Amino acid sequence: MFKSFFENVVKPKESFSGRFMLKNMNKGHEKLAKWGRSFLQIYKEDIILDLGCGGGRNIEYFLTKACKVYGIDYSKASVEMASFLNKDAIKAGRCKIIEGNVQKIPFKDKSVDIVTAFETIYFWNNIEDCFKEVYRVLKDDGQFLICNEGAFREQKNIKKWADMLNFEVYSPTDLTKMLSKIGFICEYHLDDKKQLAFIAKKHK
Ligand SMILES: C[S@@+](CC[C@H](N)C(=O)[O-])C[C@H]1O[C@@H](n2cnc3c(N)ncnc32)[C@H](O)[C@@H]1O
Repeated sequence: MFKSFFENVVKPKESFSGRFMLKNMNKGHEKLAKWGRSFLQIYKEDIILDLGCGGGRNIEYFLTKACKVYGIDYSKASVEMASFLNKDAIKAGRCKIIEGNVQKIPFKDKSVDIVTAFETIYFWNNIEDCFKEVYRVLKDDGQFLICNEGAFREQKNIKKWADMLNFEVYSPTDLTKMLSKIGFICEYHLDDKKQLAFIAKKHK
């Protein structure tokens, strides 16, 4: 029962508990997300894609800064909530939320200025292939932001969740290795709680 409730973090279900978790994540992740977003350079004409968008709060924020914002999530419940939260922008043709897996991003090569992933890469299978997809869809000089509460598996408050829900925690060194190999230029920031904002830039 306890575990089944928290599985909504990995893939929110179409149920009361799934929707409850999505609302909580929209609120509960905001402080971390705000800090992570501060490392991005956003221009009005940018196209932004938020992967594993959950309840859509980051999309709502990005719509105040950029002209077009897309979201992808493999949970129907996430797509529904993110679409509801951003319904006006969807009507105006500035936003689209797509149900899909980040392993295959339904975008053309070099079509996006900024890709973001908040509290989601822990759950991605074949992560290096997902990162290659991010590289493919980014324009030259595009930015990829990964923002995670957990940067080390042994970190306070992380290990018990990672063990229970069986997810991966990638250290800044792991990420630098994987992303540099693909061609990204990497930098990262850790706060006093060891929360991570990782910026990978696609250079020409
Ligand atoms: C912990 S929630 C974070 C949601 C949101 N980014 C936030 O910060 O509140 C993780 C989200 O990533 C989505 N997700 C996980 N793996 C995914 C994948 N391979 N493809 C698409 N979405 C994925 C889940 O469905 C869930 O909505």
